[in-house]
Amino acid sequence: MKLKNVFVAGGMPTVTYIDREHLSLESSLRNELAEGYKIVAITGPTKSGKTVLCKKVISERDSVWIDGGQVDGSDDFWGGLLRNLDLPDEETISEKVSISASFKAVIGLKTQVSDGKTVKFNGATKKEILQVMRERDLSLIVDDFHYLEDKLQTEVVRSLKSEVFEGLQVVLIAVPHRAFDAISAEPEMEGRYSHINIPEWSENDLKEIASIGFPKLGMQMASETIDEFCSESLGSPLLMQRFCGRLCLNYSVTETIKPARDYLPTKTVREAIYRQVSEQFGFPTFEKLAKGPQSRSKRNPRRLRDGTGSLDIYQAILVAVGNTGPKPKLHYDKIREALQNLLRDVDVPQKHEVSNALGQMEIIARRKLKGEPVLEWSDDYLYLTNPFLMFYMRWSDAAEIAKIP
Ligand SMILES: Nc1ncnc2c1ncn2[C@@H]1O[C@H](COP(=O)(O)OP(=O)(O)O)[C@@H](O)[C@H]1O
Ligand SMILES: [Mg+2]
Repeated sequence: MKLKNVFVAGGMPTVTYIDREHLSLESSLRNELAEGYKIVAITGPTKSGKTVLCKKVISERDSVWIDGGQVDGSDDFWGGLLRNLDLPDEETISEKVSISASFKAVIGLKTQVSDGKTVKFNGATKKEILQVMRERDLSLIVDDFHYLEDKLQTEVVRSLKSEVFEGLQVVLIAVPHRAFDAISAEPEMEGRYSHINIPEWSENDLKEIASIGFPKLGMQMASETIDEFCSESLGSPLLMQRFCGRLCLNYSVTETIKPARDYLPTKTVREAIYRQVSEQFGFPTFEKLAKGPQSRSKRNPRRLRDGTGSLDIYQAILVAVGNTGPKPKLHYDKIREALQNLLRDVDVPQKHEVSNALGQMEIIARRKLKGEPVLEWSDDYLYLTNPFLMFYMRWSDAAEIAKIP
């Protein structure tokens, strides 16, 4: 068996797919779909397994997927839907008399879209498309629904409404923040949608990824390493899959080895993996926050207590917070303490400066980063919601961060 088929970070795992049965996620989704006549909303933190769950439960053949992150406006949404819709072509259809006019119309539209023509959709054509999907028993899945503009979210829910009541199956996937304002704002939707929340991963659940995966590759992994991976994953199955995969590569295991062997990775090996992975997953988000809102030249350099260099206030706060663990919820007093440990006394920022910088970072998180805000600052508490950002903060060091231009 090949490594890439065992530990899958960022795609659809099969061998190491964990159903977390105690949460009944698959059965809840199956039951909602079986009951029908409603919009099923699936929410959960970034990279918690929302897409994976839907792919597991709903077969590709019986569904049409739209990726909210790829959609640019209303016509693109409906065009994308058509493109992904598996329909017979125009020639086959023209010979048959039993085909309804609306079905023919939809096929014609699809041909135009597939030929790269710009098609404008109106209420009637949208309805026809959805009707054809319902008649062919195809479910509509809008992944990362939160990426659609607010106006389009409302439009989509409004167009879906009547077909859903007729039996069209619809699943909308999103992050929890402000989830489904569009649905609940729509009249008559009350009781017509159901919500499945994907909870964070416990260390026990994460552990299964390793306990199933390593033996498949003939690796008997030290349990201390697996436990450490579980806690370093900060609740993210994606990080867990990545650590395990990287560890195999470290020993040059790219497919199952025979006979099986024991492995006891050193601290150096494990920490090198954390550093590599943090660069890959957390850095892009971190960088945007660390840059802050305006040009760097206006900012005071704040000298490090250990004499190795200096950071500006945005960098210093992020490094200080990282040095606390970091925890998902952190009071200002802890941030101040960490800043005092990091910076020379005269360079420690005042409370209002820290507060202002964190407020600015929250704005960046809301406006410049897609999806759920990765950071929130309110009532003297800092909330961190993104495992990749937290992981980066934990494993990066001040020297690297000072280099961010
Ligand atoms: N049930 C699962 N079992 C094992 N690994 C999973 C599971 N769900 C998610 N993962 C891991 O996490 C990654 C991200 O999952 P994904 O469903 O894409 O997240 P989301 O859609 O919530 O952002 C997957 O590529 C996989 O590596
Ligand atoms: Mg997804």
